[in-house]
Amino acid sequence: GPLSETSLPLYFGWFLFSSVQDKVGCTAMDFLKTLDTLEAFKKHITDFTGQAEKEVDLEQYFEAKGVLHCTTKFCDYGKADGASEYAKNPVVKKFYSAVFELSLTALFVTPRTVGARVSLTDEQLKLWPADTEKESEADVPGSASLPVGSRAHITLGCAKDVEPVQTGLDLLQILTLPQGEVVEEMELGSLRYYGEGRWMLSLREPICAATCFSSFYG
Ligand code: A2P
Repeated sequence: GPLSETSLPLYFGWFLFSSVQDKVGCTAMDFLKTLDTLEAFKKHITDFTGQAEKEVDLEQYFEAKGVLHCTTKFCDYGKADGASEYAKNPVVKKFYSAVFELSLTALFVTPRTVGARVSLTDEQLKLWPADTEKESEADVPGSASLPVGSRAHITLGCAKDVEPVQTGLDLLQILTLPQGEVVEEMELGSLRYYGEGRWMLSLREPICAATCFSSFYG
């Protein structure tokens, strides 16, 4: 009935501890600050501005979107497919409010979003809905052939008028493309370009982020 539906959250996910939010936020800002000064990036500036010769300040370009987290299941208060099944899953109940260490292995930027790729362990994959990547096929062709968990990410920021749901789609799109040449060796890791304003930095040392598995009602 309607009452049980209202008890479902907007989404379930891993929420970064506040100290870790600051660390990840600062690392992302450092990356953006450096990225828009690189000649390789400036060469493709029209991907962001639509005009050559124009500069872009990536730190201003993206807006933060609330508490940093990695969504496992978007429930939309019960309106999303599989929401109540997910909430009833014994694994979800067992690990609700447990602490997890997420491994952030890459940062990515597109003209729409900036995010961190999360590489899930086998235990963490138990909380990941197995059909996520298959259901993304309609939005991003090729997603269904990617390994389960490929969409796992943290939205760090969105361009004006872009919704956070876009970040996972941008990540999936990058992962379906052939891996490009390394454009630049940065302090944080190797930077690759994927065309159309898509950049991914594979972190030399993954960031270990302490999180709590929980849900958000809004
Ligand atoms: P993400 O997980 O990429 O950050 P909103 O504020 O737009 O309602 O979104 C709340 C959270 O749920 C965000 O974290 C967002 O994206 C995620 N989200 C929104 N819509 C979807 C969707 N259709 N599928 C998966 N995740 C979604």
